[in-house]
Amino acid sequence: MAITLSINGAARSVDAPDDMPLLWVLRDELNMVGTKFGCGAGLCGACTVHMDGAAVRSCQTPLGAVGAAKITTIEGVGETPIGAAVQKAWVAVDAPQCGYCQAGQIMSASALLAATPKPTRTQITQGMSGNLCRCASYHRIMDAIELAAK
Ligand code: FES
Repeated sequence: MAITLSINGAARSVDAPDDMPLLWVLRDELNMVGTKFGCGAGLCGACTVHMDGAAVRSCQTPLGAVGAAKITTIEGVGETPIGAAVQKAWVAVDAPQCGYCQAGQIMSASALLAATPKPTRTQITQGMSGNLCRCASYHRIMDAIELAAK
């Protein structure tokens, strides 16, 4: 049975099993491929989206748990003031290397700044500790978050 999700401010109808992870609903059912698959086990953060403003791992979030929550993905986060500031800072410091993890990094950074507008370096480290980057772009990511917080 089709259900309606709120994604990036739009109503999106999807007909998928309740236990399908939101990650695959986004990518395979709605063709929104900005959200990345990394580990599929809740360990890397590549699949991070916002659910009512909180960062969640979409690979660990079954469709049946979404309900009426407002979902924001990397395709929509730039429409928010914090998301726009984060993306601008990301470009300014040239944060990515290969780029694969960056959507998840930006989603976590935006949620971090929404909760803690002026984080210390330690708070950034702690807040971003669930997002892995195999290129080790961590220092530039931290610089970008500090810039976005100014
Ligand atoms: Fe979801 Fe790694 S793909 S945490």
